[in-house]
Amino acid sequence: QEVNAFQTDFLTWYQQEKRNLPWRYNQDPYRIWISEIMLQQTRVDTVIDYFYRFMEEFPTIQNLADAPEDKLLKVWEGLGYYSRARNLQAAAKQIVTEFGGKFPTTVEQIRSLKGIGPYTAGAISSIAFEIPEPAIDGNVMRVVSRLFCIEADIAKASSRNEFDEAMRKIISQDQPGDFNQAMMDLGSSICTPTNPQCEICPIQKYCQAYRENRQTAFPIKSKK
Ligand code: ADE
Repeated sequence: QEVNAFQTDFLTWYQQEKRNLPWRYNQDPYRIWISEIMLQQTRVDTVIDYFYRFMEEFPTIQNLADAPEDKLLKVWEGLGYYSRARNLQAAAKQIVTEFGGKFPTTVEQIRSLKGIGPYTAGAISSIAFEIPEPAIDGNVMRVVSRLFCIEADIAKASSRNEFDEAMRKIISQDQPGDFNQAMMDLGSSICTPTNPQCEICPIQKYCQAYRENRQTAFPIKSKK
């Protein structure tokens, strides 16, 4: 029915248009994790070079756990938000001691790692392990709010549930990682904050805001 048609159209678009990014070459959870942490506060174009360098210097979780802190911070230099790097190392040590050096495979275990919140846990679970878990960031809230005309205020933490529920209704059970990354790509290329390119949007015919010509009214965000 309609959800299936929506998923098929969206995933087909993603297969055709997805950006060629180094953390999309395989489903290694270590690589996905590092990329998601870097992407939290840094743009894709900047992250690419840092990602290659990081993987060269610390090819395994064990290497990261064992790294001297000064070397770690040197590799991170320029990315900012250095607590991200320290949390990465703390989590790598957790993986070594609590999970025998193997990246944990359930959402709860992944959430228990230092520096991993609901967004990052959802991204890693879905992309690396094909668990149908939403990965909700600002881009995804914008896309979903337009798709369903969700009036919830994205500045309020309490709105998160509404977006989570909406995402759980539409996320692909077979390809949740591709689905989440399709949301990210759509939000950064087409379903942009201003002047969204609805004319070329792959999910235009499923979008309630487009139907009502209210695209730019969403997301709703109160001033803090
Ligand atoms: N931003 C955050 N995660 C991303 C991903 N996996 N691909 C592209 N952009 C992203």
